[in-house]
Amino acid sequence: MNYKEFHRQSIEQPDAFWGEQSKLVHWNKPFSSVLDYSKPPFSKWFVGGETNLCYNAIDRHLATRGDQPALIFVSTETNTEKVYSFRELHAEVQRMAAVLQRLGVGKGDRVLIYMPMIPEAIFAMLATVRIGAIHSVVFGGFAANSLATRIDDAQPKVMVTSDAGMRGGKAVPYKHLVDESIRLSATPPSKVVIVNRGLDKDMPIVAGRDLDYATLRQQEMDTKVDCVWVESSHPSYILYTSGTTGKPKGVQRDTGGYAVALAATMKYIYCGNAGETYFSTSDIGWVVGHSYIVYGPLISGMATVCYEGLPIRPDPGIWWKIVQDYKVTVMFSAPTAIRVLKKQDPAFIKKYDISSLRHVFLAGEPLDETTHRWIEGELGLPVYDHYWQTETGWAILASQPGVEMSPTKPGSPAFAAFGYDVKLLQEDGTEITEPNEKGVVVVVPPLPPGCLTTVWGQDDRYVQTYYTSFPNKQVYSTFDWGIRDKDGYYFILGRTDDVINVAGHRLGTREIEEAIGSHPAVAECAVVGVADQLKGQMPMAFAVLKDSSIAETAEQRAKLEKEIMGRVDAALGAIGRPSRVHIISQLPKTRSGKVLRRSIQAIAEGRDPGDLTTLDDQAGIEQIKSAMAK
Ligand code: PRX
Repeated sequence: MNYKEFHRQSIEQPDAFWGEQSKLVHWNKPFSSVLDYSKPPFSKWFVGGETNLCYNAIDRHLATRGDQPALIFVSTETNTEKVYSFRELHAEVQRMAAVLQRLGVGKGDRVLIYMPMIPEAIFAMLATVRIGAIHSVVFGGFAANSLATRIDDAQPKVMVTSDAGMRGGKAVPYKHLVDESIRLSATPPSKVVIVNRGLDKDMPIVAGRDLDYATLRQQEMDTKVDCVWVESSHPSYILYTSGTTGKPKGVQRDTGGYAVALAATMKYIYCGNAGETYFSTSDIGWVVGHSYIVYGPLISGMATVCYEGLPIRPDPGIWWKIVQDYKVTVMFSAPTAIRVLKKQDPAFIKKYDISSLRHVFLAGEPLDETTHRWIEGELGLPVYDHYWQTETGWAILASQPGVEMSPTKPGSPAFAAFGYDVKLLQEDGTEITEPNEKGVVVVVPPLPPGCLTTVWGQDDRYVQTYYTSFPNKQVYSTFDWGIRDKDGYYFILGRTDDVINVAGHRLGTREIEEAIGSHPAVAECAVVGVADQLKGQMPMAFAVLKDSSIAETAEQRAKLEKEIMGRVDAALGAIGRPSRVHIISQLPKTRSGKVLRRSIQAIAEGRDPGDLTTLDDQAGIEQIKSAMAK
């Protein structure tokens, strides 16, 4: 079948299409209907069906491939390599599940996982869904404040953490941060399970609350924990992501729809086969890690690589060594990482036998043409850009070589994935049908299986955030600008809102502004994303002080800038730290008081600031210009 026909069927006959795909996973009880769309825009897939994500990821494979590799852990930080077969993974996950059960975790309870990239993090995810509980993984780079916000929203019964992670040879404390987040939280968990790696000798222990995982595990070595069968729409996880407000949204994912969608992507997009190895270079704290370090590869019977380390340490050949050693067939990475590699000696790629590798997928941020051509040339393999979001959990736009091979176009994530009715709309809601016209990328609901089903605990916010961008049209907005060329290939042009993308990490400028605003000297501020050669974008801040006399000298300003950056580090983590905090005396605003972020961004990038007729006072713009000129 060709791509066009495949996609058409998925949109026009969703019941038949997804009914067929549902066979890719195990159902303990068959569903009674494929789709319930009686309450738009909420959709329920595979209604009445009972399944379990962990069963599909592990148990289902035991009979056919129990002794084959399932999880390959490589840490260049601790010089550890360990391979778990499906049977060993099964045992470890049951031990973790038993520990959680003993701590009172049951169906629907939340478990917050704040962990470095170690196998126990993945055991914890799988163990949680095994017992019908809901995990929320928080990226290890987030600071105590961000963690506390997520604790208060998800209200976990138990947290699973580690004493420390390792980055570039240095220990990064996790447990200290967890303690601080619990101190800040209004609804702290009753128990904290710690995987102690012996990396932080000063790790504090709170008696009665903090428990050592190794000790608990020892008591459950042979405990069997059956999978708890859950209805298809039962939440499997909550993953927080940034938006336009200062408060991250808890993206809620179902169970059955997610399992089916991932299994279908493994077949039609990634073309990964059972028994092979998949290597995603992401982190389990991001959606790519959930979908393609953990569930996707395992559901399809592939071994997955859990890599703790940097792409260039001990040398820039490390990824390709992993490909060689574990015969990786499919890789998934991000453009920033490829741009980092591009600056290194390409001989490192040639040093290893990467003949097992069929293709590489990249996502998370715009992939520039030069980088795309460079990596395709170096590898001599197809490198596919594909486009998606935390909300969707899997690709919205992608080449689908498992359906039909199609040439790649540098800079384009290709075309709509099966199940997505993608359109481009003008801001007034008019559909764009002509090639090369810019519009907002939207999806006509119902969203396909596996996408977010709501915002955790906030159905109204789900509808309000995603479905009210256009007058008289209830469509899902991606908040990305895009164009489609005459061959149907899409190109993504950047966000329509205040979300920025730093090295593939999605951040809300409002969150950074709130952190800066918490400094007592700051009256108001604006943060914008500024184009960066390596990281795609970097946040840049402009702050107005309550009393400008405290920052008159260069030294005073430098000291203040450092302090403000420290505030961001403490609130969000270093990933949110602005490249600069410019101290100015006035922000450019419209007459109604709205900060003109787009104009600030344009000036910071050396572009024309655009229409300034709504400006209240020219002085604000001049301030930005002179700050940049310095
Ligand atoms: O702006 C788009 C950008 O990243 C956003 C989603 O980020 P996140 O929720 O972290 O999910 C990443 C999942 C891969 C999008 O709204 N983005 C993602 N992929 C691409 C992209 N921009 C351009 N090209 C892409 N391939």
